[in-house]
Amino acid sequence: MADRYLRLTTTAPGRFLTRRLGLPQPAPLRRWSERTPTLDGPLLHLTAGPKGLDGLADTAARAGLPPASNTPGERYAAVLLDATHLATPADLAEVHAALHPVVRRLRPSGRIVLAGAPLSATDHHQAAAQQALEGFVRSLGKEVGHGSTANLLRLTDPAAAESTLRFLLSPKSAYLSGQVLDTTGTLPLPAPPSDPARPLAGRTALVTGAAQGIGAAVATALARDGAHVLCLDVPGARAALTRTAERLGGTPLPLDITAPEAAEQIAAAAPDGLHALVHNAGITRDRRLANMPAERWNTVLDVNLAAVLTTTDALLTTGAIRRGGTVIATASIAGIAGNTGQTNYAASKAGIIGLVRALAPRAAADHGVTVNAVAPGFIETRMTAEVPFLIREAGRRMNSLAQGGLPEDVAETTAWLADPASAAVNGQVIRVCGQSLLGA
Ligand SMILES: NC(=O)c1ccc[n+]([C@@H]2O[C@H](COP(=O)([O-])OP(=O)(O)OC[C@H]3O[C@@H](n4cnc5c(N)ncnc54)[C@H](O)[C@@H]3O)[C@@H](O)[C@H]2O)c1
Repeated sequence: MADRYLRLTTTAPGRFLTRRLGLPQPAPLRRWSERTPTLDGPLLHLTAGPKGLDGLADTAARAGLPPASNTPGERYAAVLLDATHLATPADLAEVHAALHPVVRRLRPSGRIVLAGAPLSATDHHQAAAQQALEGFVRSLGKEVGHGSTANLLRLTDPAAAESTLRFLLSPKSAYLSGQVLDTTGTLPLPAPPSDPARPLAGRTALVTGAAQGIGAAVATALARDGAHVLCLDVPGARAALTRTAERLGGTPLPLDITAPEAAEQIAAAAPDGLHALVHNAGITRDRRLANMPAERWNTVLDVNLAAVLTTTDALLTTGAIRRGGTVIATASIAGIAGNTGQTNYAASKAGIIGLVRALAPRAAADHGVTVNAVAPGFIETRMTAEVPFLIREAGRRMNSLAQGGLPEDVAETTAWLADPASAAVNGQVIRVCGQSLLGA
């Protein structure tokens, strides 16, 4: 659905008027396309604390941006601040000293990435300093403007964090801000792919709800990255599903995910096993609790949560999801913040978060599989086009980027999680919400 306000603010009179009225100033975001595969400008790499993390500079250099030349007036596409060795609150002065002079020199759609360490369980000074970085990036994300973002990457091993750093320093993370991305999972990294542009080559991914909206965009991104995509949707959506699958060279799988034989049919459609199981199918049946019949409650819980649990359990325990594979479920900001009229939907999406947190360590230990969730905020789809106008406008503007996300933003986040090189990302709930004001 067109965001006419965003278009208005890109014209000179529109910008003048909306500034005078003190209205939000969304900036067009630089998103990934074949013509714009990288951010626009150099990367400035800084260090705060006694020293930087060994190997991080080399890893950052491989992210595809030229290094800053430190010439006067230079403006940056991205600033990476290595704060991994910050050990006391006094060290935080160095974060200010490093970023204060450069924050205005970020180009539109720029990135600020703080590299931090996991919180120590025994050194509360280190834990205080490292946790402080979280509040810092969440605030900076609200300040930077011009379509720029700020995120915190927690790491111990630069190699394990490489796919995540590449994602953060690219247009693929356009709608992700104020987030903490942890890359300290325990699974080993696979050998590098023969074609870095197609990390999923030779692998199969299943995407539920793939006929339209976010699911179709996810299927598209995974196919671009080399996967053979099994596109699953309800039999009633067969025509659209077949079109999506054919466009991507994938396979349509018309099937209701709540059907008792769903897992069996998925396994049969992927005889060589699945690398990625993407649970995207989801429905809303909004009503305030006082007006909600049990049927509306049950349908939403069945599709959004129970079917995810049942099929994941079956496909994991039978080994249909291969070692080194991944499960990516879809939560929602509504599951974090709650929403009027959505007790059923929010309960189902919060349930997804519980599932991910509890299953992730066990799935890694027992099956060599990661389990993560994406939590979209306001994404421009048919689902949100049906929201009444004023609520829709509020949903669009109440985030640091002052605009809705696109299905591609969720798709790129899913593709990063599905990349075998992201094996160290486990048990995470990644909000793709432009740093929505709703929720944490
Ligand atoms: N659009 C947003 O702003 C937003 C925000 C937060 C979360 N989400 C979540 O993202 C996911 C995709 O949302 P969307 O906006 O693209 O929705 P959508 O309604 O456009 O697409 C959902 C797809 O799931 C399919 N589906 C529904 N029930 C199914 C079932 N039982 N078996 C198989 N397929 C089924 C539908 O046929 C449809 O093609 C959902 O889980 C949704 O809850 C969306």
